[in-house]
Amino acid sequence: MDKLIIQGESDLFGSIDIPGSKNASLPILIASLLSEKNLNLTNIPKLQDVKSMILLLESFGVKINENDSKLTLNAKDLKNNIADYDLVRKMRASILVLGPLLARFKQAKISLPGGCSIGTRPIDIHLNSLNKLGINFEIENGFISGLVKNELIGNIIDLPFPSVGATENVIMAAILAKGKTIINNAAKEPEIIDLGECLNSMGAKIIGHGTNTINIEGVNQLHDSSYDIMFDRIVAGTYILAAVMINKKFTVKNIKPKYLESLIQTLIKMKANLIVNDNDITILPSKKIIGINIETAPYPGFPTDLQAQIMALMCMADGPSTIKEKIFENRFMHVSELNRLGANIKIKKDTAFIEGNKQFKGAQVMASDLRASVSLVLAGLCAKGETTVNRVYHLDRGYEKIEETLGIYGPIIKREK
Ligand code: EPZ
Repeated sequence: MDKLIIQGESDLFGSIDIPGSKNASLPILIASLLSEKNLNLTNIPKLQDVKSMILLLESFGVKINENDSKLTLNAKDLKNNIADYDLVRKMRASILVLGPLLARFKQAKISLPGGCSIGTRPIDIHLNSLNKLGINFEIENGFISGLVKNELIGNIIDLPFPSVGATENVIMAAILAKGKTIINNAAKEPEIIDLGECLNSMGAKIIGHGTNTINIEGVNQLHDSSYDIMFDRIVAGTYILAAVMINKKFTVKNIKPKYLESLIQTLIKMKANLIVNDNDITILPSKKIIGINIETAPYPGFPTDLQAQIMALMCMADGPSTIKEKIFENRFMHVSELNRLGANIKIKKDTAFIEGNKQFKGAQVMASDLRASVSLVLAGLCAKGETTVNRVYHLDRGYEKIEETLGIYGPIIKREK
């Protein structure tokens, strides 16, 4: 398993272009299943999760061609509607193929996605919502089997929680359903907007994506489309936090700051020095960063996917901070590893209590989930001495070769087998 060796007290300079969004790419790649025509995608990031998704879609019979960073997908001749364990266990987003496969095949069989290190990750909201569109599910020996009773019929669906994945699954199943579907208490994440915009470019009829009420008018078929994936707001937020921690001038480009409002407001309250323009943010050195109390929430609240990263900054801030993790039940795997790097963080139920004014010192640490891994990299860049982050396959799922992408702007990060 690969590991990263990180030199501490890192420099950081210049400006970085943010790649396409992993969490917009995965559902949009899956949306190709709904159409018999070409879907041309640009700005798809080069990530392990995208590679896994491409393999999964090809296992159903989707033809996928890549030429000079444009991906063309065609699902005219689907030949299989079973998603096997090996492909699904690596990536929870696989559950999103359920809606589209059922819309095309009227039946589908998906290996139950395992939990992961941040929680059991149930799919009850997915199944209960899809059931309202006329789909019966059975769970047997590790598989979910879905069967459309006679046809997909639009319905009113009230989500008990604004689940991102469940919202995406229902949108995609409703595209080809008969009549109208209304999703209440829908997730409002920007990645939902991107999925809705892409589907509409394919001929779907969706309004309200990005608000908590989404209206979908079923259509009979979709047409050719080309779509450019939005920027990755979590990767952007990660690099903004890196620059605040390293306390050097750095610019993060090709972004829409309005999708990072919660992080920007939090950093301003912490006395970070930011220049926010239309498509980029410049971080300037600041005299002192102060602690703050935050809690994660569905968009537009503070994103759970930036919780581990801002926790690393809080360790260095002047004064204590707290983070209440309200989205996942076990998303503090990075705490013990940050403590190995010299932090002093205690957990009581869903709240982390972070002591400030710490100086990280290099050590061997273990990556656990995707975002926890990157918070260890950020701490390593600020530590005195060398840090080794083990099991970086977690990191590669969401960050394109971080030793290269970040390395050209100063950090000295080496990958070792
Ligand atoms: C998406 O996961 C993201 N993944 C996650 O990013 C992100 O952390 C999460 O949304 C929250 O923003 C992708 O987009 C591929 P949820 P998802 O359904 O859809 C519970 C990353 O780092 N829940 O909004 O799985 C669930 O257990 C990943 O890129 C149910 O109880 O998130 C969790 O506690 C990590 N039943 C909460 O809702 C369900 O049927 C939020 O889950 C579904 C979810």
